[in-house]
Amino acid sequence: MTEQRYFHAQWSSRMAFILAASGSAIGLGNIWKFPYLAGENGGGAFVLVYLLCVAAIGIPIMMAETLLGRRGRQSPINTMLTLAEEAKASPDWHYAGWLGVISGFLILSYYSVIAGWATAYIFKINSALFEHINAAGSTRLFNEFKSSPVFVGLWHTLFMAATTLIASRGVSGGLERTTRFMMPALLLMLVALDFYAMNSGGFGQGVAFLFNPDFSKLTGAGVLAAMGQAFFSLGLGMGSIMVYGSYLPSHVSIARSTLVVAGADTAVALMAGLAIFPLVFANGLEPSMGPGLIFQTLPIAFGQMSGGWLFGMVFFSLVFFAAITSAVALIEPAVAFMTENLRLSRADAAIYSGIGCWFLGLASVFSFNIWSDVQMFGKTPFELVDMLTAEFMLPVGGVMVAVFAGWVMRREIAEQELELTDRRQFEIWYFLTRYVAPAGVAIIFLDAVGVL
Ligand code: PFF
Repeated sequence: MTEQRYFHAQWSSRMAFILAASGSAIGLGNIWKFPYLAGENGGGAFVLVYLLCVAAIGIPIMMAETLLGRRGRQSPINTMLTLAEEAKASPDWHYAGWLGVISGFLILSYYSVIAGWATAYIFKINSALFEHINAAGSTRLFNEFKSSPVFVGLWHTLFMAATTLIASRGVSGGLERTTRFMMPALLLMLVALDFYAMNSGGFGQGVAFLFNPDFSKLTGAGVLAAMGQAFFSLGLGMGSIMVYGSYLPSHVSIARSTLVVAGADTAVALMAGLAIFPLVFANGLEPSMGPGLIFQTLPIAFGQMSGGWLFGMVFFSLVFFAAITSAVALIEPAVAFMTENLRLSRADAAIYSGIGCWFLGLASVFSFNIWSDVQMFGKTPFELVDMLTAEFMLPVGGVMVAVFAGWVMRREIAEQELELTDRRQFEIWYFLTRYVAPAGVAIIFLDAVGVL
């Protein structure tokens, strides 16, 4: 199907796709969420399950999602409709696209709040208050900050406004250029923080915590969280990689590009973990502190270094960039859909989506202060939206993609789009996509609800 119904832009090169997809993958999930989830779930065993999920479930689904996008060349909803028609399957498959649009919306609503914290810290860290701060001090400053609905709401508003502005301008251009310089810079900063952590006095303990699996500490809920994190971190199961795949020129190798992206994403998460846990142990903090973990640990390091305020400012600026390139990917399925089906201009589609996410995000802003007692199933609105999306909606969306690519789409089409020269490589991908990914997700779901 070479005919294109809509005139979406295309990436200028393979590198442009890799940069955009890494921009979507690398974000708060790696720097903020991975460490705090690993900390809450006992460390090594969680990390091992996470790595297995990335390799056996995440990477095959990432390839599948990209190839569906390139074949369909539209927003996820319309791509699924077109591909279902081509495969003579039920048009109901387009609900997979809907699930993605809704997941993206829900995730962005709280993602923007946490990104707002990181943005605020760019400015906060440049304050005498942080000089030689200890663990108790940095925890106090963080708690003070997050308990103000006005401040947190303000930063959330600014972050959503920035996301909307970038999304209204389209996927390439500025974003491509920003990512090109931001990624290597972020990597360098993490290397520097890892070196700092090596001399912090807690390095051995930190490494052991992350890499010595102790399965007695891992529950069914922890396994589910690890799988959810694999989907979240790679940015899978909600159509944003599908949209990016739809802008991919046809000669580019999907398999190689996805491997690069998944490798970079995993490396950044592990490097963030290696920077943070030594600080946790060296300062007598608890690994299971939750969503505030990086905001309570890293400022201690910045406060001790000479010139640490500058280092901290650069670091949180890079976190901001990493977050905004992910945020744009989260909003893209909704924007692409609105421009196609509602015939809105890109700018209008971005503004409507942005306002919707901002409004929904207020529930997460308040979860850390005035609504912290408003709980359903023992969870605040922030925790509920986070769990519902990462641990349920993304895996379900991902399995739909795997089942479609592995069972519904004709095998020749998948072969043709993946263009793997080595037959065996195709067989491995096909096997993982048809059997391992759907069965893996099903087993983890059943285990978590106590059926197994
Ligand atoms: N992968 C992003 C992160 O790790 O921060 C978050 C994300 C982006 C999730 C895009 C889902 C998505 F489609």
